[in-house]
Amino acid sequence: MEPFVILAVSLLLGALIFFISAAVTGSRRAVPQDSNGSTVNEEDSKVSNGESDRNTASKKQKLQRPRKEKLQQHVFAHPLLATSLKSHSGNVSCLDFSSNGKYLASCADDRTVRIWSTKDFLEHDHRCVRANVELDHATHVCFSPDSRAFITWLANEETIRVFKMIKKDDGSFTFTAASEDFPKKHKAPIVNIGIAETGKFIMSASNDTTILIWDLKGELLATINTNQMNNAYATVSPCGRFVASCGFTPDVKVWEVCFTKSGTFREVLRAFDLKGHSAGIYSFAFSNDSRRMATVSKDGTWKLWDTDVEYKQQQDPYLLYTMKCNVSDPCRIALSPDARVVAISSGFSISVHSAKTGKQEEEFLNVHGEEIADLAFDINSRFLVSCGDRAIRIFHNVVGYRAVIEEMEGRLKKATNEAMRERLQQQVDDAQSALEAVCTKKE
Ligand SMILES: *[C@@H]1O[C@H](CO)[C@@H](O)[C@H](O)[C@H]1NC(C)=O
Ligand SMILES: *[C@@H]1O[C@H](CO)[C@@H](O)[C@H](O)[C@H]1NC(C)=O
Ligand SMILES: *[C@@H]1O[C@H](CO)[C@@H](O)[C@H](O)[C@H]1NC(C)=O
Ligand SMILES: *[C@@H]1O[C@H](CO)[C@@H](O)[C@H](O)[C@H]1NC(C)=O
Ligand SMILES: *[C@@H]1O[C@H](CO)[C@@H](O)[C@H](O)[C@H]1NC(C)=O
Repeated sequence: MEPFVILAVSLLLGALIFFISAAVTGSRRAVPQDSNGSTVNEEDSKVSNGESDRNTASKKQKLQRPRKEKLQQHVFAHPLLATSLKSHSGNVSCLDFSSNGKYLASCADDRTVRIWSTKDFLEHDHRCVRANVELDHATHVCFSPDSRAFITWLANEETIRVFKMIKKDDGSFTFTAASEDFPKKHKAPIVNIGIAETGKFIMSASNDTTILIWDLKGELLATINTNQMNNAYATVSPCGRFVASCGFTPDVKVWEVCFTKSGTFREVLRAFDLKGHSAGIYSFAFSNDSRRMATVSKDGTWKLWDTDVEYKQQQDPYLLYTMKCNVSDPCRIALSPDARVVAISSGFSISVHSAKTGKQEEEFLNVHGEEIADLAFDINSRFLVSCGDRAIRIFHNVVGYRAVIEEMEGRLKKATNEAMRERLQQQVDDAQSALEAVCTKKE
């Protein structure tokens, strides 16, 4: 008799679970269709302490997730680690700071884009809001220049989707996807996307030799053939003037995307090349004014370049120096916006160098449980951030603080004018107190 009872009970339970999950998935599908947007707006359950139950959408999310939550997290500690942002339940693939400095966007294969407030990087709790990417996930994310929208590359749809961020009265956000995604044009996997700071164009680059230039509405403006066998990396310069790529060939190619005075697209012109490596280039970076660039190559070196040149007069960029480094794919290089610091990630680790001397000053080993996918400095050069596994690591940019102190003290010695001296002294004091705050926290 007993086995029969157990069987009946488990059948009943099974049916019950089936109905519950059918109801949950059913209503889940219904949510985005009501609004026609591919997003749900909600506060992150982890951060809106105690308020998560208020929102039925976050309950559903929880029901689906218990198994993932149990996955072991990679453990990493370092005195210069300011914090780790942990809300994603999948590998984070891309990070971008908004140009107003207020937000960090991250996307992961957990079908969410998260927007973090940079203001509370040094607080105990980290607030973030979540935009859901329904039935897909974003592999790349990039803020619009006005920090009121972001674009994503969709892994399954293989195209660009624009999301508007609408701030509500209570300070939270609503995310709405544009009614139409960009047309599907790339024939190979994407390596990067970007938006010009001027707001004039969007770039997407695939790992064949194609870079596409779009207007903000998704009209194709130009197609660039990089002729580099493949594109390993490509980006828009932070000043919004240039697009550049690297790949199998040992140079970085830089183009200027030209517009008329009235803002209509004119043409894409070759600007300059960075030539000097002896093997393919993994990655490169611009400083925020595009006067410096850094490159890292399979040839086992990284280089810093002075790109503040009159390329229209056929002037070539100057190589400032070459440093040895032991790197392998995947490898990324980041240049702080103020061009004082270079960070290089390779595999699971990061090295941080003074841009003045090229010397390595810090090293972070095994930062992530997966290979590092992205590396960036915030716009004020205060933090270095990295991603790879589910966590986002935020490091104090002490190399940058030290560089500021050294540089400003040098200038102080030569300064004659009192106002100038005061300004320099203020910069030294600010950097010094930032550095001291990090050092006292260390203990
Ligand atoms: C993260 O990526 C690794 C390697 O690609 C994969 O094995 C792992 O399952 C991913 N983790 C999650 C949580 O998606
Ligand atoms: C929903 O989106 C589809 C295509 O993206 C569009 O044709 C339709 O008009 C939209 N409906 C509403 C109510 O916005
Ligand atoms: C492009 O990326 C895909 C997927 O990562 C890879 O299989 C392919 O070999 C790459 N193609 C080139 C030309 O690098
Ligand atoms: C470079 O790194 C690899 C793997 O991390 C290691 O085996 C090798 O010894 C390193 N080479 C040098 C010159 O440091
Ligand atoms: C670049 O960064 C420096 C230092 O943070 C800042 O003073 C400057 O205004 C920035 N320039 C641009 C074009 O963003």
